[in-house]
Amino acid sequence: HIPITLQCLRDYEITAQDFVRSDIWQYIQQGSDQNISVAANRRAFDDYGLRPRILRDVHHGGVAVQILNETWQVPIALAPVAYHGLVHPEAELATVRAAVAMQTPMVVSTLSSCRFQDIRLAAEAGAQELKRPVPPLWLQLYSQASQQQTQQVLQDALDAQFSAVMWTVDAHYKRSSLALPEGVSAVNIDADAQYKHTSHLLDEQLVFGSWFTEHAPTWDDLAWLREQTHLPLWLKGVSHPEDAKMALEYGIDGLVVSNHGGRVLDGMAASLHVLPEIKAATGAAVPILLDGGIRHGTDIVKALALGADAVMIGRPQMHALAVAGMLGVAHILHLLRMELELALAQMGCAQIKEIHSECLVRW
Ligand code: FNR
Repeated sequence: HIPITLQCLRDYEITAQDFVRSDIWQYIQQGSDQNISVAANRRAFDDYGLRPRILRDVHHGGVAVQILNETWQVPIALAPVAYHGLVHPEAELATVRAAVAMQTPMVVSTLSSCRFQDIRLAAEAGAQELKRPVPPLWLQLYSQASQQQTQQVLQDALDAQFSAVMWTVDAHYKRSSLALPEGVSAVNIDADAQYKHTSHLLDEQLVFGSWFTEHAPTWDDLAWLREQTHLPLWLKGVSHPEDAKMALEYGIDGLVVSNHGGRVLDGMAASLHVLPEIKAATGAAVPILLDGGIRHGTDIVKALALGADAVMIGRPQMHALAVAGMLGVAHILHLLRMELELALAQMGCAQIKEIHSECLVRW
């Protein structure tokens, strides 16, 4: 079943399975419980049909977007994904070199298997070699057990010149049973915190009264966090319009509509389906990113038509990294860009800003 050529993200997914140990494959692919939300994320894109306009001149087209004060060459970023070392020995260092090659922003997970500073250095080396700038590198933050530990993660990210903080708030009560292989660990957090993060909720463990409910952050922590950093602050894991509006009152700079790739609360609505209400509630106040199930350029068109300013990809990074390291990740980013440009031209849109809800039909 191995495709002879790798021509789309799906080809990488099929191929990757043969490159990855089965328990690691499970960890990457599985959603929680019955995989309802994983399937919903994908299916949601099929609920919309594209409605192109004809005879438009698109020859001066382009796909760059402005996200806050940064220019993105393509409205695609690498979502934070833990432990790239699970699928490739060069881990995040390979991924970031691909990000440089394709000028793609990368959101580095708190649970990355390389040090933030090393990721920065690999990006700079790649940038020098390829004679292009380092794209935006952001920190994805998980709150740590103490404020002091959280501050340390922020400081390390600042030292690595990361230019924004994306705080993930939807994954405090999560089951996971992967035993990390030798040599792969969350090197940016201390050993005790690592234990908690890697073990998540142990099998059969009750939730209320556990370490997890005791340490899960609340809105007060958002107020605290806002004061800890001058960097743009994004909130990842928003799916209710009231939460989106409330987050604005706390001074956040951007929202990430996400259900964590269906890996947390199974049965959550597809991220694409909750996007329009969040856009309606927040208007143009802050930029919105969407992730969950983006696998093709036309998926990006649909997400942007429903209110996202850009999208992020999660699992496909791991598939590509497993199959072909840095070149694999660079290739899927190239494929997505190609597909997006083709879709845009076929839609009769010359610019990303010409994509709006009129481009879609709900089936
Ligand atoms: C994730 N995701 C994630 N999110 C986050 O904020 N911090 C993290 O450390 C991780 N780790 C992680 C590991 C793996 C193996 C996966 C698959 C996902 C979630 C990720 O950022 C993103 O929300 C989803 O992966 C998007 O869905 P798709 O593109 O995988 O369908």
